[in-house]
Amino acid sequence: MPLQPALGSRSSPEPSRASALDAPLVIDGIHKRFGANQVLKGVGLKLDRGELLAVLGANGCGKSTLLRCAIRLLDPDAGSSRLGGRDLALLKGKELRLARREAAVVFQQIALVKRRSALDNVCCGALGRIPLRRSLTPAAFPHEVVQRATIALQRVGMLDRAWQPAQTLSGGQAQRVAIARAYCQQASVILADEPVSALDPRAAEEVMTLLGDLAHNDGLGVLTVLHQPDLALRHADRIVGMRVGEVVFDKPSPEVTPQEVDALYQHLRET
Ligand SMILES: Nc1ncnc2c1ncn2[C@@H]1O[C@H](COP(=O)(O)OP(=O)(O)OP(=O)(O)O)[C@@H](O)[C@H]1O
Ligand SMILES: [Mg+2]
Repeated sequence: MPLQPALGSRSSPEPSRASALDAPLVIDGIHKRFGANQVLKGVGLKLDRGELLAVLGANGCGKSTLLRCAIRLLDPDAGSSRLGGRDLALLKGKELRLARREAAVVFQQIALVKRRSALDNVCCGALGRIPLRRSLTPAAFPHEVVQRATIALQRVGMLDRAWQPAQTLSGGQAQRVAIARAYCQQASVILADEPVSALDPRAAEEVMTLLGDLAHNDGLGVLTVLHQPDLALRHADRIVGMRVGEVVFDKPSPEVTPQEVDALYQHLRET
């Protein structure tokens, strides 16, 4: 399915993304241990607006743990995460939930509500932004939410399937809907954990193009964990390489060498 042109703030129903311009993600010195397993050993990175950043690293090196610590779904043992300029470690309860909305998360396991339509699922992306009383009745989303969700579906080239139940979508289509839902959240940052791992090469290419488009045309900061170095090298502006809980390189994609990529996975061959 072809990628739709960016609508961005140039289209009148599209809400302002001014907050996106002020809200990069800055992670500094994150340590995280599970029992005796020291998973993150002082990880730091910065996600700029308008940037697609890929994180590469072998299974178990701590990528997903890092994403969870970044938005404090997990409490790090040390270090800080600033999202939208706010230090999440200083927040709790409602304040933390509000601050966390600046990051939309797209997981590998596409968590759509199976029986509900693509449009309903995307509307759910805005649930955090409408009063709780109204959010309890997803069948009756406010008009402005439906309007925004429609724009989001158009944005990912899925408007023609708005009424199709999520359980009948292909993997690539469902991932697009999940990204539309993240877009509908009006977050300034998208964190995607292996968003293309279940997709065929062409669908993976399209989803990566879409993520790049959201960064470059909409000014979002997009951080994605990948297991496909070739996709990272072709699509990402910058690549962070992780190895056993540490960042071993962080540089623009064109500067990353095949040797550096190989070294990330070296121990897999040695064991
Ligand atoms: N809640 C948890 N309790 C205990 N150990 C955990 C927990 N979450 C993660 N781990 C461990 O932390 C390490 C890093 O896990 P993580 O999921 O961050 O790796 P990853 O880099 O995302 O790997 P993959 O590429 O396989 O997704 C692993 O050894 C994992 O078993
Ligand atoms: Mg993971």
